[in-house]
Amino acid sequence: CGIIGIVGQSPVTERLIDSLRRLEYRGYDSAGVAVVEAGKLDRRRAPGKIRALEDLLREQPLPGKTGIGHTRWATHGAPSERNAHPQIAGKVAVVHNGIIENFAALKRELIADGRTFTSDTDTEVIAHLIDRGIAEGLEPLAALKAALDRLAGAYAIGVVIEGHDHLVLGARRGSPLVVGYGEGEMFIGSDALAVGPFTSRIAYLDEGDYVAIDHDKALIFDAEGRPADRPVRTVPASAALVEKGNYRHFMEKEIHDQPDSCRNTLSAYLDPIAGKAHAPGGFDFTAIDRIQIVACGTASYAGQIGRYLFERLAGLPVDVEIASEFRYRDPAVAKGTLAVAVSQSGETADTLAALRWCKDKGLTTAAIVNAHQSTMAREADVMWPTHAGPEIGVASTKAFTAQVSVLTALAVAAAAQRGRIDAAQEAALVAHLLEAPRLLAESLHVEDAIHAIAPEIAKARDVLYLGRGPMYPLALEGALKLKEISYIHAEGYAAGELKHGPIALVDEQTPVIVIAPTDDFFEKTVSNMSEVIARGGRVILITDAQGAAHAPEGARVITAPTCDPVIAPLVMAASIQLLAYHVAVIKGADVDQPRNLAKSVTVE
Ligand code: G6P
Repeated sequence: CGIIGIVGQSPVTERLIDSLRRLEYRGYDSAGVAVVEAGKLDRRRAPGKIRALEDLLREQPLPGKTGIGHTRWATHGAPSERNAHPQIAGKVAVVHNGIIENFAALKRELIADGRTFTSDTDTEVIAHLIDRGIAEGLEPLAALKAALDRLAGAYAIGVVIEGHDHLVLGARRGSPLVVGYGEGEMFIGSDALAVGPFTSRIAYLDEGDYVAIDHDKALIFDAEGRPADRPVRTVPASAALVEKGNYRHFMEKEIHDQPDSCRNTLSAYLDPIAGKAHAPGGFDFTAIDRIQIVACGTASYAGQIGRYLFERLAGLPVDVEIASEFRYRDPAVAKGTLAVAVSQSGETADTLAALRWCKDKGLTTAAIVNAHQSTMAREADVMWPTHAGPEIGVASTKAFTAQVSVLTALAVAAAAQRGRIDAAQEAALVAHLLEAPRLLAESLHVEDAIHAIAPEIAKARDVLYLGRGPMYPLALEGALKLKEISYIHAEGYAAGELKHGPIALVDEQTPVIVIAPTDDFFEKTVSNMSEVIARGGRVILITDAQGAAHAPEGARVITAPTCDPVIAPLVMAASIQLLAYHVAVIKGADVDQPRNLAKSVTVE
């Protein structure tokens, strides 16, 4: 969910909406705003996208110079108007991001106290707790603190209170919250982007902090209630909303952005003249014995590709685990392990928790992140940036290839440092990596072939994706992309695993998409394709020219550019992304904002 709060000099609803649009990546199943004006509290809420709230505000305007806003990704309670935020109890309106774990017990207590609930949300208990404090005579800040002391779980909140026209309260535990410093106006928001149109002067709250803002100042307190100073920094101007240009969807644009985003990212890791790869700021890969990668979703598949490269090139053992499992299973991590979080947003709750867990255990931590001011970027010992630029489409594309670019470059750097390759071999690998942006651009030419095949895939109920080696995680990513945006059930399997079960699913209705460039595994994968074809299955092979020449009879072929195996995951990625994209367009799905998803999931 996304939060914004403004103490302004002029009416705020339009600006609240402007911010919510920028926060839509955090969820978009309902939205709402509340203002205090002349001592009175009022709100508007609507299920659905922010457009719906805008339409409502056009019919029923909401004047007021102090207000809060929220865009929701439902956790407790269906995405309806009654469950949309702000939640109001008595004189208090609250917007909230996160989960209050003890809300059921608190709700029972508050009901026993005679309080009536009007939603199914966990958020409403926060409003009641603060309102109870106010009713008992506490000042707003004291009532907030008393409420926070009762909450278990992770959250960021924003609050306005009837009778306090120039006051917005905020608190952060587990979910990010920033304070924006304007000219005679102050802001709180989930991230720098939210307050970007209004100010570039920002302070990041620390864990446990809470804050009161009025026109010209912020009073910040730490978890113990002591006044705290958080440095105000100027973040690079992010005011311009990213535009789609001539593309129909952000996802389409972002797929086509990849040659640039890959080039920008690699330029921070490669020295083309010396033919060397390095970690920006330097990192000693001889000082570690193994790597533990933690990530969620698409980022975890980038991590899995990284594992093949690090182990093969640098001889460094790598474990990759999805963060939500890692953080709760008491993993036995060896000393000398480098923990690497991979995340576009740098805010994903499970990945952040896994990173913190590793830090607590005394491990060195690194974060490969696209949002360079994010919590992971700030908390990890080492920040390895991807330079993909803002990614708006919920289904990740250019952030994924940027993550793979970084992992590949770092694997080469590690291999050189650890003496696994000599200078000539390093230079050759760097030369291949430098070709990746051009070949990625060339690989976008498969679009016509993909376009031709997409209507058939759009009719399927199930689709299988197969790959071996680094193409196995790419098969997983291909299946995820299709699921996410076209709602077709899809599964990725290691091609060699097909015969151990999934082959039972093969019939003439189920397309089998095989990703197999010419590499050490190609012959083996040809056998797997033949097994599918022999059982009446329909194979679509994504390969290069040489692979196309050796494709088994009966396979339909999409020919991507020929490249060195070290960059094949980057070059092949475009095909699976374009396939998912065109299938979703044919199905008329909401490509950039698919149902039930959010771009950045800051709850566990
Ligand atoms: C969400 C998105 C996925 C993304 C995952 C990890 O679930 O819908 O597309 O891969 O979070 O996000 P991160 O920001 O950590 O890369």
